[in-house]
Amino acid sequence: MNQIDATALARARYNRAARFYNIVDALSDGMFETGRQKLWHHVKGEILEVGVGTGKNFPYYPQDGRVVGIDFAERMLARARERARELGTRVILREGDVQHLDFADNTFDTAVASCVFCSVPDPVQGLRELNRVVKPDGKILLLEHMRINQPLVGRIMDWLNPFVVRLWGANINRRTIENVKKAGLEIETLENMDPMRMVKFIIARPNKTALA
Ligand SMILES: C[S@@+](CC[C@H](N)C(=O)[O-])C[C@H]1O[C@@H](n2cnc3c(N)ncnc32)[C@H](O)[C@@H]1O
Repeated sequence: MNQIDATALARARYNRAARFYNIVDALSDGMFETGRQKLWHHVKGEILEVGVGTGKNFPYYPQDGRVVGIDFAERMLARARERARELGTRVILREGDVQHLDFADNTFDTAVASCVFCSVPDPVQGLRELNRVVKPDGKILLLEHMRINQPLVGRIMDWLNPFVVRLWGANINRRTIENVKKAGLEIETLENMDPMRMVKFIIARPNKTALA
């Protein structure tokens, strides 16, 4: 499947999931709470949140932050708009695809993504776009679940993945560390957020030479 078709399919899955996303995702809220706090502790300046979803990060946004949030699924964005209204969150919400960002080079000081690169059809392309739009001295902050690096569990995740992705839109067996490296980003710190080492918090730096 080419990138255009894969993106249309992934977007349709998230538009379908939008109605019940908050209910189902509440099951894993506890697992990500510390990670979300850490993520937003490290932001500064002009901030881009990609794959903003239904706005689960809004409660963690800095009071004086200048945040632009994008998502490619309009129904997820509609939920985010409702949540922003309810919480009084200051954020500019726009439809957009992280694989082809509509921003000039070196626009943002910080890019943030939580649980996004599990579903971006071409994650390396999306991460390269973050490399492009973040300023050379900026940061790319990722809180992502990924394939567990143990032979048996990893293989079970590979086996289950086609079912999960069809149902929910997210891949459970992405090799996100490898993807971050393939995109040319420089990993500054990498922290395991759970005993299974499935969820990781990554602070990465842009590497403009990789874009050449
Ligand atoms: C699992 S949800 C996570 C939402 C939110 N970041 C959170 O922490 O709850 C993944 C989100 O990424 C969005 N997404 C996936 N691929 C995308 C892409 N190529 N461009 C923009 N958004 C994308 C989906 O529409 C969905 O809202």
